[in-house]
Parts: sequence; structure tokens; C-alpha cells
Amino acid sequence: PVLVVDYGAQYAQLIARRVREAQVYSEVVPHTADAGEILGRKPSAIILSGGPASVYAEGAPAIDSALVESGVPVFGICYGFQLLAGALGGTVEHTGAREYGRTDVRITGEGGVLHGELPARHPVWMSHGDSVTKAPEGATVTATTDGAPVAGFENRERRFAGVQYHPEVAHSPHGQEVLRRFLHDIAGIRPQWTTASIVEDQVARIRQQIGAGRAICGLSGGVDSAVAAALVQRAIGDRLTCVFVDHGLLRAGERTQVERDFVAATGVNLVTVDARERFLDALAGFSDPEEKRKIIGREFIRVFEQAERDLKAQGDYRFLVQGTLYPDVVESGGGTGTSNIKSHHNVGGLPDDLQFELVEPLRLLFKDEVRRVGLELGLPETIVHRQPFPGPGLGIRIIGEVTADRLEILRAADAIAREELTAAGLDRDIWQCPVVLLADVRSVGVQGDGRTYGHPVVLRPVSSEDAMTADWTRLPYDVLERISTRITNEVAEVNRVVLDVTSKPPGTIEWE
Ligand code: XMP
Repeated sequence: PVLVVDYGAQYAQLIARRVREAQVYSEVVPHTADAGEILGRKPSAIILSGGPASVYAEGAPAIDSALVESGVPVFGICYGFQLLAGALGGTVEHTGAREYGRTDVRITGEGGVLHGELPARHPVWMSHGDSVTKAPEGATVTATTDGAPVAGFENRERRFAGVQYHPEVAHSPHGQEVLRRFLHDIAGIRPQWTTASIVEDQVARIRQQIGAGRAICGLSGGVDSAVAAALVQRAIGDRLTCVFVDHGLLRAGERTQVERDFVAATGVNLVTVDARERFLDALAGFSDPEEKRKIIGREFIRVFEQAERDLKAQGDYRFLVQGTLYPDVVESGGGTGTSNIKSHHNVGGLPDDLQFELVEPLRLLFKDEVRRVGLELGLPETIVHRQPFPGPGLGIRIIGEVTADRLEILRAADAIAREELTAAGLDRDIWQCPVVLLADVRSVGVQGDGRTYGHPVVLRPVSSEDAMTADWTRLPYDVLERISTRITNEVAEVNRVVLDVTSKPPGTIEWE
């Protein structure tokens, strides 16, 4: 793999994603990993990420010179660029010239491999206080800016290079090309990380892990569990059984999508458990968000455990399939070992004493890769490009007590919003658009000749890369108008549609 050494930037994962977009497999390692450990993984290249520290700050993470002397190709970015320069005998200075945000970079000389034939002057994203003032001996300077005399250098023979700016962010429009050139042309790595190779690889791994055993998989209706199940299905066929719990907090059409579309695409064994009454009974009388979440989690476990006991009669289901993704693995502290907290969360909170061995075929993948794998496996677009939907479902989108009537109102309003967003071709532009029912709020309206006293629903369209941060999506007014008109006309109990224009932070995406 190409190993991205994380110096504490929020960019490390993004770098790994960009490397993979260049069809080269990449993983993140913490900067605390020692050089022996990193080199022991036989990286095809090492990328040193940016970081918040100044190389001069007390306790600033350093670089073990063994990394740069190992002969493994090395690329430095921002802080990593300065570390690399320092380690190879260049000079880094606190010049007082700081650059933050959009900066113009100028190509110097021929621009070398990294910057050759790119526009002579083009925008990049900068974030630095210190600067490299002298490139390492033997390196060619390929770019410069007003604040960074050396903004890029390379040595093709010794296979090291770097840039002061952040090539991984969208604000550096030629950044991906620069990364690609390092990987393919300087490090000499062949682009082989393709969707087809991922599928082939994972199927082989799953077969090896499960052998002749049986596996069970909880389907949530979401992309991750669907793709995980489809992969395992490809590997072990009908020794996989999927369990889908209908907790009554689903959106319109969701159950059909799983029971019809998913099964049609995969031919998987599916058990649906109708637990609608059980969840409604358990939720009766509760309006506190945390209490509702806990109840839903608890009931889910009970239903799932019962389904698992029922399946025992058919054979020994020793393996549990989960759709844990790579960002979950990295965030919980490393690429090895299993992270129980996240894993459990993924199926709605399975207890520790559940005696399963986990199968996590997506634990090396990012969300966009998961979607491509889903398509490669023949899953329909309706499933693969589905927007994220929280495990507790509509239960946390009704502000107040959850009742059957309220669920019906919200389900109807939500279906209209989704229909209109899809019709407007906006599904891929937004991350998700929760519709929230303010069930305990009423306001006065007028319809026909009569006064109404109904509930508001909130539209919460957000744009995001990973749900950690989000911005509210500027939906076109005509789309908002159609959604509003249709909801207030077609859903009798709703007489007002309002728009949530809060970013995250400070708001979260969901209201509860
Ligand atoms: P928040 O509201 O924390 O949501 O900004 C971030 C993302 O996570 C989804 N979400 C959940 N997903 N179980 C899930 O599987 C949950 O309990 C849960 N709560 C929130 C939310 O839809 C958004 O995409």
C-alpha cells in the first residue's frame, strides 16, 4: 500500500482517498508508528501529511530519517513537505510570511514531473506559517508562491517530491494531477486499485474467513449493509441469511426496496421481522431524544437476537456481517483489530456477549468505493445511491412522542420531498435531506376558506463529504416551492414548511 503518515491533519484520510482515486491502494498510519513498523508493511510509497504544528514548535512530531533513507518513494505535503525538506538537508524557516487559503502558485523552470505543462500560474490551497527556503541538495524546485519560495520540489532519481500546498483538497484544481504524477511517474506505481479488483480481492478474503460456515447479516436498508451483504453473498451464496427488521420507523417504500429490489438483484435469503407494534408500544409516552434512541436500540437488539435464535434451527450461524467502513476503523485508532463500539453501532447496538465472529468486507473502503462496489455487484441505483438514513429512522425525526399517526404524517411529507428532489435531479448533489415533523408545535394557517391549526415540517437539506461537518444546501427556490406546495396540499395535518439553514457545527444533521 501507499501509507499516508498522519501528522494530525484532518487531511490524512482525504489524501488516502485521493491516492485511491488514482487507482493506487492507500491506508493511513499515525505518525506515532515507528519507522520499522511503517517500513515493515512494505509500502510502495510514503506520503507525509500536513499537520497543525510548526516544525519549530516544542514537541512537534518529527520524522525518523530511516523513512527517507529507505529508498521507498516519499511525498511530503505542507507540514510533511517541511519535514521532508529538513530531513534531506534543505532549510525550513519561520519567515513571517503566512499563507492561508487560496494562493497562486507559479511554475518554475520546466516545472519538472510534478508541475510540467500545468498552467504557468494556477490556484492552490495553502495553510502554512513556516516555509522551505532551500530545497534539499539535488532536488529541482518546480513551483513557487509569494510566501513560499520553494512551493514544490522533486528528485526523480531518488524518488522523493513534495508540495507546500494541499493537493488533496478541491480548492487545488490541479492537485489530483500532481498526486497522480508522483504516484505513477515518480514512484512508478502501476494503477491497479479498481472496483473489479476490490470485489475479487474481498470475495477471496471472505471465502477464506468463513470457509464452509454460515453468516447472518442485519440489513438496515442503507447502502453499507446492502453492499456488505451482496459481497458476502457473492462469496458464500445461500450460506448467508439476511435479517431485516421492520421497526415501523422506515420511510415510504423502504421495506419494498429491500424485500423486492435487493432480493431481485442478489437472490439472497431474506428474513423480514415485522416488529412495528413492538417498537410503537415501547416508544409510547417518551419524547426525550436520548430515551427514544435507547429504546429503539434496545428493541432492535431483542428482535435481532430472536431472529438469530430462530435461525439456529437451520444451522450454525457463527459469522456476523457488518458494513463497517474505513473511516470508522481509522477514527477508532488504527487499521488493525476490531472496533466494537462502531461495529455495534452499525447494526443498531449489538451487545458484547453476542457470540459472533465479525465479517467486515468494507473495512478497507471509503463510502464512494462502497457505492462503486455495489454497482459492480449489480445492485440497483435506488439502493446504491441512497442517501444516509439513521438507524433509529423516523423515530428521531418526530420531535416529540412517536405515534402511528405522526409516523404516517411524516412518512407522507418525506416521500413528497424525496420525490421532488429526485425529479429535480438533485439526489447526487445533496448528502441527505431529513424531513422533520415538529409534532408538538402548531401554528395557524388558512386553506380554502377555513382556518387551519396544523404542524410544521422542517426541510433539512445538507451537503457534506463525510457527515462530520456539513453545510445547508442552497436548493433552487422552484424545487422548494414545489415541495412546500405539495406537502401542504397533500398532507392534511401539515400547514407550514420551513427550511433549516444551519451548518454543522453548530447544528447536527438530524434534529435529535
Ligand atoms: P448527526 O445528526 O450526528 O448525523 O449530524 C450524522 C450522520 O449520521 C446519521 N445518523 C445515524 N446513523 N444511526 C445511524 O446509523 C444513528 O443512530 C444515527 N444518528 C445520526 C445522520 O443521518 C447523518 O447522516
